[in-house]
Amino acid sequence: MTVAILADIHANQEALTKVFEFLEDRNIQRIICLGDIIGYGPNPREALKMLFHSEVAIMGNHEEAVMFYGEDFNPKARASLEWTKDQLNSSEYERTENYDLWNFLGTMQQVVEDGDVMYTHGSPRVPTREYVVPADIRNQEKMAGIFDLIKKVCFIGHSHIPHIYTSDMKHAAPDALKGAIDLRKLGDRKILINAGSLGQPRDGDPRASFVTFDGNIVRFHRVEYDHQTTVDKIYAEERIPNFLADRLLVGR
Ligand SMILES: [Fe+2]
Repeated sequence: MTVAILADIHANQEALTKVFEFLEDRNIQRIICLGDIIGYGPNPREALKMLFHSEVAIMGNHEEAVMFYGEDFNPKARASLEWTKDQLNSSEYERTENYDLWNFLGTMQQVVEDGDVMYTHGSPRVPTREYVVPADIRNQEKMAGIFDLIKKVCFIGHSHIPHIYTSDMKHAAPDALKGAIDLRKLGDRKILINAGSLGQPRDGDPRASFVTFDGNIVRFHRVEYDHQTTVDKIYAEERIPNFLADRLLVGR
């Protein structure tokens, strides 16, 4: 059965709503969430609630930071982190509803393996922290260390750049793959697949990015959403830096 693999939602309710509509139209109900549901965006409570039913919920660095301490957060990320934390503890809501949000965060795991498929946020080496970006393909030691920990397939997020990396040190953007890759053609090679960011893409395309996977074929998708509403919500919230709104318009 096909699963939708969603990463880096970043409290973007409008993008998540549109992606859910896309999935409903195709009768895809199984959701795997690769972390960073919250942070940066204006609707952390709503985004968490919309993903309560995820089959797998991976902890991103933003969930880790809200539960523990985000020592490596820059000032803009920290401002949104503190605001997010206050939202999740807001006395405007029933206490039990706040508990539900925190309990969900508490269930999140850093790495989940299902047969030879692995799910994590950043990389299998440092699950919530390590970035894998296209330039890393020249860093053989790093990539070999990562592939050593993968049985066959690993889905990640974190960099907000949809991309694939294979253990023969090749890599490709979704466009070069015409939007899909058939894993049966990998042979002995292993593969690392970044689903891109649903709620804050940084590859120059502002549409929501995610993948679907039917057990053989991974498809990359982009879905348009109403950016302006999300942007206006961020502008209206004094404690979230405007920069985090502006970047949604350009996907950077
Ligand atoms: Fe993220």
